[in-house]
Amino acid sequence: MDARAVESEARSAIAGASTLTQLDEARVRYLGRKSELKQALREVRDPETGRTLNTLREALEEAVAEREVELERAELDRRLTDEVLDVTLPGVARPRGHLHLITQIRREVEDIFLGLGYQVVDGREVETTRYNFDGLNFPLDHPVRSPLQSVFLNGDVLLRTETSPSQIRVMEIQPPPIYMVSLGRVYRRDTPDATHTPIFHQIEGLAIDRGITMADLKGTLLHMMRALFGEERQMRFRTHDFPFTEPSLEPDVSCFLCGGGGCPVCRYSGWIEIAGSGMVDPTLFEFVGLDPEEWTGFAFGMGLERVAMLRHGLPALGLLWENDLRLLRQF
Ligand code: DAH
Repeated sequence: MDARAVESEARSAIAGASTLTQLDEARVRYLGRKSELKQALREVRDPETGRTLNTLREALEEAVAEREVELERAELDRRLTDEVLDVTLPGVARPRGHLHLITQIRREVEDIFLGLGYQVVDGREVETTRYNFDGLNFPLDHPVRSPLQSVFLNGDVLLRTETSPSQIRVMEIQPPPIYMVSLGRVYRRDTPDATHTPIFHQIEGLAIDRGITMADLKGTLLHMMRALFGEERQMRFRTHDFPFTEPSLEPDVSCFLCGGGGCPVCRYSGWIEIAGSGMVDPTLFEFVGLDPEEWTGFAFGMGLERVAMLRHGLPALGLLWENDLRLLRQF
């Protein structure tokens, strides 16, 4: 083997390698197990030649190592200029959800009443006829007690038809004075149409204290209406009939769109029917063991979907239950 020829050939291959892969190819070719040099080293017989070949091997190994450092540095330089990271660029925006419109309104109503010093109470969606009907003074032949109108699970257990049972549950365990609201889902066997869905949300309100009058009811409801529909709103009462209130009253709120002049939202009447309310019937106090001569109170109930529909001009209630993001994203 011609050591000089091998050396110059190997050195120019090492120097000429412009990538780490090419350098490795040169290393295998000139220093690998099957290289001419390694072959010669295995066959060497005299110490003189052995020393020369070993010196050559070491020199070439060093050349490879040096070239490797050079190439790695060049690669690093290239990456530092090519792969710049600009930390001032805006990040990748991740899609982010938000609360459903009904949840937003629910929290808004809760905030209104927390601001008045009310407590927010959890009711039960699965109720018994005792709380859903008996305690609320529904007569035994009232149609809402029928499985044709309400969703019974078994026997006297049913999905609550309104949030009003929370009134009985709170009065049963908590001594007055009571100032509470309770919000959540209610269930009715209704055929879905523009203004009905079998599941919807209500807010229930109850105030029990000494000397509560209809003026307290009116002032509280007016405060809620104005917080929800604008400070200029007016309210009026129509008489009504609920088993659990006497007298029973339906509050109307002046139309927030036309201000009372008449428009499609209020069906040209200037007023919008929005809730049910009244003074707590003495039979409820007796049911929970409170003295009706000592305690007085008012109660009210309102549908949250109706608030959403009115405020946002939704044409149909079912839209809120379809999970269509094109609708929900707007709120
Ligand atoms: N529970 C009634 C309904 O679902 C609404 C209601 C009316 C609640 C009058 C009340 C009330 O607390 O006093 O139609």
